[in-house]
Amino acid sequence: MENLEAKIDGASSLEELEKVRVEIFGKKGVLAAEFAKLKDVPGPEKKAFAEGLNKKKAALQERFDARKRELEALELERKMRSEALDMTLFSNLGEKGALHPVRETMDRIIDYFVALNFAVESGPMVEDDFHNFEALNLPKHHPARDMQDTFYFADGTLLRTHTSPVQIRTMMRQKPPIRIIAPGAVFRRDYDLTHTPMFHQVEGLVVEEGEKVSFASLKWILTDFLHYMFGEVEVRFRPSFFPFTEPSAEVDISCIFCGGEGCRVCSHTGWLEVLGCGVVDPNVFKAVGYEGVSGYAFGLGVERFAMLLHRIPDLRSLFEGDIRLLEQFR
Ligand code: PHE
Repeated sequence: MENLEAKIDGASSLEELEKVRVEIFGKKGVLAAEFAKLKDVPGPEKKAFAEGLNKKKAALQERFDARKRELEALELERKMRSEALDMTLFSNLGEKGALHPVRETMDRIIDYFVALNFAVESGPMVEDDFHNFEALNLPKHHPARDMQDTFYFADGTLLRTHTSPVQIRTMMRQKPPIRIIAPGAVFRRDYDLTHTPMFHQVEGLVVEEGEKVSFASLKWILTDFLHYMFGEVEVRFRPSFFPFTEPSAEVDISCIFCGGEGCRVCSHTGWLEVLGCGVVDPNVFKAVGYEGVSGYAFGLGVERFAMLLHRIPDLRSLFEGDIRLLEQFR
């Protein structure tokens, strides 16, 4: 019966404690042996002997339970420490990926307009004639339809040739004021150094009640936007034609490669064409049932921006998924 407490306290793991438990409390353990002596104790002393033994047993049990709780807590802590993850460790799992230059350019464009409170809208890529052409003041047999060579489906629907149908869908769904951009993929039958059958545009549309919006508003925002994208370039608005805007303009920036001196990229003109825009044609408002409003719209090609910003010579390379191209944009 000596040093049983010390044995309990000395167990340094749950397994060791279990051995101690068998040794003390087991059927052939120390306590069982002590209780066996009871039958040899003389009658008058039996009660005191049994009481003493029971007290001893209870004290040992208490000591045992306490040590068990201690060891369980230690074990749990050891387990948690061994499974812990250090979230602040640097990863050495190799190199990171990167955004595709088209995505990255698109995000930059969107950021600019979102900061000016434009909402981001989208529309279907499979469009109908009404939204892609008719409502945009391109009636059937209008020669301007030849400007865009269209992919048609047998049922007369088509792959949208520009993001302008999102203008129509937004105006038919909402009331002015409207202030949106519509980024997305568009499709044309084209394939050469500067054209792929699928590319991306960002459309912009602002409509206000009354006469609030003018060509001046359009000029201000696009000039500021182009400075944001390309830095301190010259911006030039050149009269042009789109069926859905009047007046219309194409916007040029001074060549970012030669600074306007004239080089191969700008075909020795000193200027790079970067977007189309104009004041929304009254016929477009008529098609969507708007009256007494004014607005402007613009559209740009995201790949063209990406090519200029990153000096990518062949547009088609953006869609070949060649890792050697993508690795340059990490
Ligand atoms: N939708 C025209 C295009 O694809 C671009 C544009 C949009 C021009 C809005 C003017 C206004 O070429």
